[in-house]
Amino acid sequence: MSKVGIIMGSKSDLPVMQEAIDILKELKIDVEVDIVSAHRTPEKLFDYGKHAHTRGFSVIIAGAGGAAHLPGMIASLSPLPIIGVPVKSSNSIDGWDSVLSILQMPGGVPVATVALNGAKNAGILAAQIMGSSDPIVLDRIIAYKESLKAKVIQSAEDLK
Ligand code: RP5
Repeated sequence: MSKVGIIMGSKSDLPVMQEAIDILKELKIDVEVDIVSAHRTPEKLFDYGKHAHTRGFSVIIAGAGGAAHLPGMIASLSPLPIIGVPVKSSNSIDGWDSVLSILQMPGGVPVATVALNGAKNAGILAAQIMGSSDPIVLDRIIAYKESLKAKVIQSAEDLK
């Protein structure tokens, strides 16, 4: 079975990126987590981006903050869909630097960028991409969405 690659620029990104790991585990999708720094380990970034599609990954989630070059550089090297998570890191001014570094990619090199610290949605989106060609995963996404609906209906009932 194929898996989702989750990478982040620093261990300090893990508290945010953990939400992607958790939701993918909940959806019973295999993940492989690694730290790949665009600025501190550029050779590792190049190797990861060049070979991820030969290592059983279907989608890559990349999170970074501040001068957040990791998702865009991985997108420049890999044919896989890349989901970018802007992290409000210690070196980020206010989060906008992380968002814009990941969001404003040039034509031809897309990064599907989620909200600031939006790792949970990155995990769900990765599962949805896999679900488009895997009916078992698709059924899990349908059940997950039903559970969201049930929670809202229950909250409304609780108010009465
Ligand atoms: C980015 O710089 C990392 O992705 C992280 O968000 C930020 C700060 O890294 P550390 O200084 O905490 O290692 O490259």
